[in-house]
Amino acid sequence: MSGIELHTERLILREWRDADLQPFSALNADSEVMRFMPRQLSREESDDRARRIRDHFKQHGFGLWAVEVRDGQPFVGFVGLSVPRFETDFTPCVEVGWRLARSAWGNGYATEAAKRAVTFGFNELGLTEVVSYTVPENLRSRRVMERLGMTHDPSEKFDHPLLEEGHPLRRHVLYRLSRSSSDGSILESAATDGTAKGTP
Ligand SMILES: CC(C)(COP(=O)(O)OP(=O)(O)OC[C@H]1O[C@@H](n2cnc3c(N)ncnc32)[C@H](O)[C@@H]1OP(=O)(O)O)[C@@H](O)C(=O)NCCC(=O)NCCS
Repeated sequence: MSGIELHTERLILREWRDADLQPFSALNADSEVMRFMPRQLSREESDDRARRIRDHFKQHGFGLWAVEVRDGQPFVGFVGLSVPRFETDFTPCVEVGWRLARSAWGNGYATEAAKRAVTFGFNELGLTEVVSYTVPENLRSRRVMERLGMTHDPSEKFDHPLLEEGHPLRRHVLYRLSRSSSDGSILESAATDGTAKGTP
C-alpha cells in the first residue's frame, strides 16, 4: 500500500526519504512554525514523528506526504491525510493537515497540495468527508481550510483529548468538507492538475 505519489502543477507529494529528516527537524525546531503546537521538537522527537508518519502510510496506504517543490527545494514539509489517534465526538475520521517550513509560506503550496490530497481522499479512497482542526488563533491554517471550501460550525469547538485540562492550546475549532457538499472544484482539479502513481 505504500508508494503513492501525487502531482500538482508545482509540487510532488511523495514518500518520505531519510534525507528529509534533517530539514524536517529544522522546521520542527522553528518557533514560528511550531507556534500553535505544544512545543518545538528536538531532533529525536522530530525523527520519531517522521517514523510515525511512515508507519501511518504502512497501516493505511495514505498519510502526510513529504512535499517537494518541482525544480526547487526537495523537501518543504508535509501535507496530507491522517487518521487521528484519539477518540472524540467526530472520530473515526480522516483529517487533512499541513506543516511547511517558513521559507515555503506565502506561495499557495499548502492549499495546492491539500486540494490534491483531498481529491485523492474523495476519488481514490472513497471518503465521504474530510475534517481539519486547529486552535482558533491559527489563522493561516484556518485560511487554508477556508480556501479548500471547508466550513466551520461554531458549535463544534472541542477540547483536544491529547492535551491536559487547562493547557492553553486545548481548545480547537473543527472544519469539515463533505464530498457531496464540495462545490466540485476539488474533484475537477483531479482531472486537470494531478496524477497518482502507485496502487492504494
Ligand atoms: C498553515 C500553513 C501551512 C499555511 O501556509 P501558507 O503559505 O500561509 O498557506 P498557502 O500555501 O495556502 O498560501 C497562501 C498564501 O500564499 C499567497 N500566495 C502567493 N502566491 C500564491 C499562489 N500562486 N497561489 C496561491 N496563493 C499564493 C496567498 O496570498 C496567501 O497569503 P496570505 O494568507 O498572506 O494572503 C503554514 O503557515 C504553516 O506551516 N504553519 C505552521 C504549521 C501549522 O500551524 N500547521 C497547522 C496545524 S493545525
